[in-house]
Amino acid sequence: MAIHIALAKGRIHKAVMKYLQESGYEFPTYSEDSRKLIFEDSKSMLKVTLVKSPDVAVYVERGAADVGIVGEDVLVEEASGAAVYEVLDLGIGRCRMAVAGIAGKKVDMTRRITIGTKYPRIARQYFEQNHHSVDIIKLNGSVELAPLVGLSDVIVDIVETGNTLKANGLEVLQYFMDFSARMICNPVSFKIKYSEIQQLMKVIQQKELEV
Ligand code: PRP
Ligand code: MG
Repeated sequence: MAIHIALAKGRIHKAVMKYLQESGYEFPTYSEDSRKLIFEDSKSMLKVTLVKSPDVAVYVERGAADVGIVGEDVLVEEASGAAVYEVLDLGIGRCRMAVAGIAGKKVDMTRRITIGTKYPRIARQYFEQNHHSVDIIKLNGSVELAPLVGLSDVIVDIVETGNTLKANGLEVLQYFMDFSARMICNPVSFKIKYSEIQQLMKVIQQKELEV
């Protein structure tokens, strides 16, 4: 039985497709810059779809994909109640959640601060735990812009290499959570396609050891 994997589009799909190809799977129609969203391997063992990261758990929960690979940050923010099994930590896509602001500019944390973020739930939880009064503005990307144009005092966002912050004159004020890419699985698929899924996990785990 073929397994359908939903991959979070972007850095994760590029890394995982590379893994799979290096492990012997051939995807004749795949290239990094293709606009296609579905790829099958030449032995018809895997069907890969490229999905926007917040939607990966939706496809898996509803059984439209058997497994999904997505950042843990997105799972915590968007899918904490999703009925899926988390089966593997891939050890790639490591990043940290951070509060960041304009480099060298002091932020008065004692007053109500404004936060631009793609992660309103994570941001609210963090600041409420720390008893800060905050105004959260939900953005959908390029959040580094917000403090630069006066939309917010700070941002809450993931930092991987730190290049985006640096390129935009921002700096980390506080790191507060660590994340990595996770494999999630539909509970029914996990039973019906048990051996195929175990095999896939083995292939990916082997790659992880080689990194
Ligand atoms: C993510 C994240 C940061 C950046 C972090 O943005 O929101 O902006 O990557 O990576 P770095 O530390 O290696 O620079 P993404 O590229 O996914 O774009 P988006 O925020 O516009 O969706
Ligand atoms: Mg970004």
